[in-house]
Amino acid sequence: MRGEVTLPGDKSIAHRAIILSSLANAKTIVRNFPLNEDSLATIAAFRKLGIKIALNKASYCAVVHGKKLYGLRKPGSGVYIKESGTTFRLLLGVLAGQPFKAKLCAGLSLSRRPMLRVIEPLRLMGAKISARSQNYPPVTIVGNNLKGITYKLPVASAQVKSAILLAGLFANGSTRVIEPVKARDHTERMLKLFKADLKIKGSSVIVKGQKELVSPGPIYIPSDISSAAFFMVAASIIPDSKVLIKNVSLNPGRLGVINALKRMGAKLTVKKSKLNYKGNEPMGDIEIKSSVLAAIRIRKNDIPSLIDELPVLMVAASLAKGTSVFEGVSELRVKETDRIKSMLTNLTKMDANIKVVRSRGQENIIIKGVNELHGAKVKSFGDHRTAMSMLVAGLAAFGETSIDDISCINKSFPNFLETINKLI
Ligand code: S3P
Repeated sequence: MRGEVTLPGDKSIAHRAIILSSLANAKTIVRNFPLNEDSLATIAAFRKLGIKIALNKASYCAVVHGKKLYGLRKPGSGVYIKESGTTFRLLLGVLAGQPFKAKLCAGLSLSRRPMLRVIEPLRLMGAKISARSQNYPPVTIVGNNLKGITYKLPVASAQVKSAILLAGLFANGSTRVIEPVKARDHTERMLKLFKADLKIKGSSVIVKGQKELVSPGPIYIPSDISSAAFFMVAASIIPDSKVLIKNVSLNPGRLGVINALKRMGAKLTVKKSKLNYKGNEPMGDIEIKSSVLAAIRIRKNDIPSLIDELPVLMVAASLAKGTSVFEGVSELRVKETDRIKSMLTNLTKMDANIKVVRSRGQENIIIKGVNELHGAKVKSFGDHRTAMSMLVAGLAAFGETSIDDISCINKSFPNFLETINKLI
């Protein structure tokens, strides 16, 4: 693989940009907006809630006409969130503070993902919420006069933290979220950019409610590090590769993949980006050349910083020298698919040596590196990151690999194939 690429804007940041712009006091221009299904689901949801959003797809530019904290309109029918878990959970936080009833509906896969983790704290703040059995979507929420709470997160989750902080914008008094491990802080950064009253004290994030959000004017979204990860791993394991990935988002809560690959011996250098950019998120270029990778042990506390990159890191570990251990990975079971199962099934078909063991109440993945992977018929299981990881594995393998259905890639990275093909 050889050449330079610029990847679409970061999906996590894109959601926050649309959400806070919708609640702000004036127009916000969001540049480098990614046109994937999840990010578009957030735009569609806020349009349904009465926000005017113009999207110029040719220039990746969204213009959001914010209507302040209480400007959202009661939707006439259910708000369909498709498969975007971040949209669903963060929007519940926003709706918790609105003086109307709304029903959030989801696609098939998201309708089987856990929502109690956000429903519980939002109920404590005063929202009235009902859901399908086992707290699965659809979820109906009636906003209320919220009160600030102190909430210790039982799972390290940026989505849960964000939902509570967003609800905190509407609450009386302060809302404090205590994190067991620091997860990505896009919401905190974006809230500061919009002049919210937000403080970070150790592992606590504190937001004061009822303060107007001030539009910063333009926002530029750097490229998605989770999309970049596929290129980092591919360039590492495919011989004679040298790839430059430009303008990548380098949020401290998401550097796990870079750190892990470096520890594995990847030839990876982070360089200053040439883009003239003054944003609230760090950004840089990543240069990566092929190398012989060594096995790695990833600890439970590091998981939040590379949660979405674990599938492709499983591919890297399959071809690394020695035995890798990824500890405390059970959150992978509640992503778009059970990613432990999907990756284990697929990589085993390609002759990787991979297993899951339970030890001291946690699930660990053990991968003994092999010299080569062999092409096989694998499945995406309808999961974008499983599909892209298996495409990377297929490129590095001997023989032909076929994947049953890759339309799911549109969830995060519609031009993935085109982009990677340009480098081959
Ligand atoms: C996200 C947080 C992570 C991640 C997801 C996006 C976010 O989920 O897996 O793809 O934008 O906040 P959790 O916070 O549930 O771990």
